[in-house]
Amino acid sequence: MMETARVIWFTGLSGAGKTTLAEKLTAYLKKNGQKCELLDGDTVRNIFPQTGFSKKERDEHVKRMGFLASMLERNGVTVVASFISPYRESRDFVRKMCKNFVEIYVSTSLEVCEKRDVKGLYKKARRGEITSFTGIDDPYEAPLEPEITINTAEETVEKSFEKLLAFLNLN
Ligand SMILES: Nc1ncnc2c1ncn2[C@@H]1O[C@H](COP(=O)(O)OP(=O)(O)O)[C@@H](O)[C@H]1O
Ligand SMILES: [Mg+2]
Repeated sequence: MMETARVIWFTGLSGAGKTTLAEKLTAYLKKNGQKCELLDGDTVRNIFPQTGFSKKERDEHVKRMGFLASMLERNGVTVVASFISPYRESRDFVRKMCKNFVEIYVSTSLEVCEKRDVKGLYKKARRGEITSFTGIDDPYEAPLEPEITINTAEETVEKSFEKLLAFLNLN
């Protein structure tokens, strides 16, 4: 395949489906011979656990990852990035830094994400056991002009992935 490197950036609430789709996309690209790296919020936060969830810390985290993504991109590596990245300004900062930036808004509603509660974090946030949780007591600014919007609420992972490949002209 070997296409022009891009930065494919997933944004959306916790549990929206970012990591699920990003992992599948990375595997697909690699299998097809594309140089590709996955940057995932949880992975990065596990390595740097002192990174907090204030606006300032979230912005720094996202902008640093965007800078890294842009460096990989200019060296021919496609980057698949999955971060809640709740603030429009920092996503736009990343967009400006990259050459081929594709913003994928995983628009799955709070209600559905909370029902999934993959990691049990919504329950904790509702109980007040954790604070600054996106969608509960912290903001999420939806993209105004994403390249792609995917709502995973009423379709299988396979169907969403199929749509994603079509949007990206990879099918
Ligand atoms: N169409 C779909 N696309 C992606 N994930 C889906 C879909 N339908 C159901 N899911 C489920 O939703 C959950 C999404 O979790 P995850 O990918 O970890 O979200 P995020 O990384 O956005 O926090 C997974 O358990 C996944 O199996
Ligand atoms: Mg995730």
